[in-house]
Amino acid sequence: MNSLTLFLPCAAGVEGYLAQECQRILGGEPTALASQRGGVSLQASWSEMMQLNLRTRLAQRVLIQVKSGFYRAEEDLYTVAKSVPWEMWFKVEQTFKVEITAQYSPLKSLNFAALKVKDAVADRFRDLKGSRPSVDVKWPHVRVYVHLTQDQLLLSIDTSGEPLFKRGWRLDKGEAPLKETLAAAMLAASGWEEQDGLALYDPCCGSGTIAIEAAQMDCHIAPGIFRKFGFENLLPFQASPWQTIKNRARQEERAPTRAIFGSDVSHRMVDFAQQNAERAGVAHAIEFRGGDALVRMPPQETPGMLMVNPPYDERMSALGVAGAGKGFGRERAQMNSAAAWEHRSPSRDPSGASVGALAGNMAGDLVGAPAADKAPASADFFSLLASHWKKNFSGWQAWVLTPNLKLPGQMRLKESRRVPLWNGPIECRMFKFDMVKGSNTGVKKAGPEA
Ligand SMILES: C[S@@+](CC[C@H](N)C(=O)[O-])C[C@H]1O[C@@H](n2cnc3c(N)ncnc32)[C@H](O)[C@@H]1O
Repeated sequence: MNSLTLFLPCAAGVEGYLAQECQRILGGEPTALASQRGGVSLQASWSEMMQLNLRTRLAQRVLIQVKSGFYRAEEDLYTVAKSVPWEMWFKVEQTFKVEITAQYSPLKSLNFAALKVKDAVADRFRDLKGSRPSVDVKWPHVRVYVHLTQDQLLLSIDTSGEPLFKRGWRLDKGEAPLKETLAAAMLAASGWEEQDGLALYDPCCGSGTIAIEAAQMDCHIAPGIFRKFGFENLLPFQASPWQTIKNRARQEERAPTRAIFGSDVSHRMVDFAQQNAERAGVAHAIEFRGGDALVRMPPQETPGMLMVNPPYDERMSALGVAGAGKGFGRERAQMNSAAAWEHRSPSRDPSGASVGALAGNMAGDLVGAPAADKAPASADFFSLLASHWKKNFSGWQAWVLTPNLKLPGQMRLKESRRVPLWNGPIECRMFKFDMVKGSNTGVKKAGPEA
């Protein structure tokens, strides 16, 4: 188990950040590290594989590649899959599932191809042990991955189980929560972690994903510390070295070193975010409040980083001032009641005085909202947001994730960077706007697409 070939799939556009993350997690240059389209491959030991599962924020899962070969027809898949010593990886009493992906495969039915691999695994066990493992498509103990290209077949065994964006702390879902892996990719692309002491503020925080990811990074909380992994079901697994790895990770945890804020016009979402932060072990590191992004003032005097995945379609319309007059009466009432942003008692905050003191600046700092019946429609949300930021957030850098490539034009801001990222199947850009003091156009010229 000392030289496993691993493949860590990730969202398109994230490969470079994931390769850097693997270097950070394993310390130094991992053997045969290579960025490929849609993921990163490397050689690692069993123990390093466990470390990667525990600590990666960007990978979707960690796969061990067990066999590759040529194929032309379904029968070839059966032959190659039957030659893999699956009995080394799991027991006949355990359940399994075959997942299949393909690029340019000439095969007519991927379902049939997966069935062939499933038969090969089952037949191998039956030949050797006299019985075969059962299939469980919902909660299998073991997942076998098949990837087909035009003529190559790659068989892998999954070590993650549930996809890694499931960190184990999210019970309350917002209406359009970001995947944790995407929030982590936004933070990686912004370079927030490398900018010592820089505060972070998400003014449309929803269930709190961006703020919670950031706070865990700051507090050195391993993203996988609250969950189980597929490798715990595999035969080479030993509980004691795994416990040692987890203990070491827990010892590295630290108190927050910077301020992180989140607010949302929906008090229901703020509640969810707060509960999620508690489960993620970072409630003490984030200030969540209710309030309209169009009227809420900076949570602290020193400029920091705004990062937001704003409402983007009719289903997720902008609420608050921009949504007023569009039938969002309940939310409007909540927005108005949020104007009295209460102080958080510093004594509730084990991290020390600084976060409590910053919260004081955020408290009560709402500027007056226009009367609801005179308020603009939600289509104006982005131009209002831009005006609000230009006027009140000078010196801040703002990162906005959106599928709307025309957003800078709508905000009448010039982006200084744009990073292509995928939100599932939706192609997005993360735009960076530098809110320069005294400028009403935003900033520097756009750089090349990163
Ligand atoms: C796409 S969701 C953000 C999801 C979030 N990143 C998460 O992971 O859960 C957009 C959020 O913007 C909030 N929102 C809509 N209008 C707003 C406004 N005027 N001010 C603040 N938040 C607003 C919605 O309540 C929703 O939670």
